[in-house]
Amino acid sequence: MAKCKTVHDIRKLYEAGTVITMLTAYDYPLARLLEQAGIDMILVGDSFGTVVAGYDNTLPVTMDDMVHHTRMVTRGAPNTLVVADMPFLSYQIDIATAKLNAGRLIQEGGAQAVKLEGGVTMRDTIRAIVDMDVPVMGHVGLTPQSVHRMGGYRIQGRGEDAAARLLKDALAVEEAGAFSIVLEGIPAALAKEITAQLHIPTIGIGAGVHCSGQVLVTHDMIGLCDKFSPKFVKKYVDLSAILNEAFANYRDDVREKRFPAEEHSF
Ligand code: KIV
Repeated sequence: MAKCKTVHDIRKLYEAGTVITMLTAYDYPLARLLEQAGIDMILVGDSFGTVVAGYDNTLPVTMDDMVHHTRMVTRGAPNTLVVADMPFLSYQIDIATAKLNAGRLIQEGGAQAVKLEGGVTMRDTIRAIVDMDVPVMGHVGLTPQSVHRMGGYRIQGRGEDAAARLLKDALAVEEAGAFSIVLEGIPAALAKEITAQLHIPTIGIGAGVHCSGQVLVTHDMIGLCDKFSPKFVKKYVDLSAILNEAFANYRDDVREKRFPAEEHSF
């Protein structure tokens, strides 16, 4: 399977009409597995905050957290394009701060691109980061860092006005120079329309089948996150059940002195 190491490789997939695959990873072992499976892009998502750190939302995630996890992922997947999320407060204050923080994810984390949430209001910030030669992935629709404004994790872009605003947001992200854009939690018909109007790949999550590619939070699709599971997640394996059984077997083996056996002893 051809390796995708740069945004140019993603562009080639898009131009060839190949559907692009993306999954999240926050550490070395999962990044290795995603690379071995030939996933095109790995996202070090700030979803790490809810999925791994146990926070209620992504807002407490810091730049230091993201740099730390991005380092683990880039070591595990040296031949795959790694996109690192810019966490809350790392790009909203001013453009100079946004540039510095995007640069940290590249310089200290080893990522090849960054992702940030927002449309029209983030146009100048995206352009400034792109202008310093850091590829940017946009993210519009259900943007988890706006959970308090949205009043929860709700499908966005329902109704004509909301749909028109979302299309405007996506066009602004493209116009600012982003190489790709995540469409999260929007009606499939709207995602289809945005994908048709844009000239960069759209990566959908809860946005239907008509996007240029798809992304999921890996812990959701492997059954390692037993909190709320959104409707758009397909669970490919129930790792929680498998691990529960393994841990219980270990507990029983130790109690019953079946472990360690001869072959595990010196
Ligand atoms: O943080 C994340 O994992 C994301 C994806 C849900 C797109 O932003």
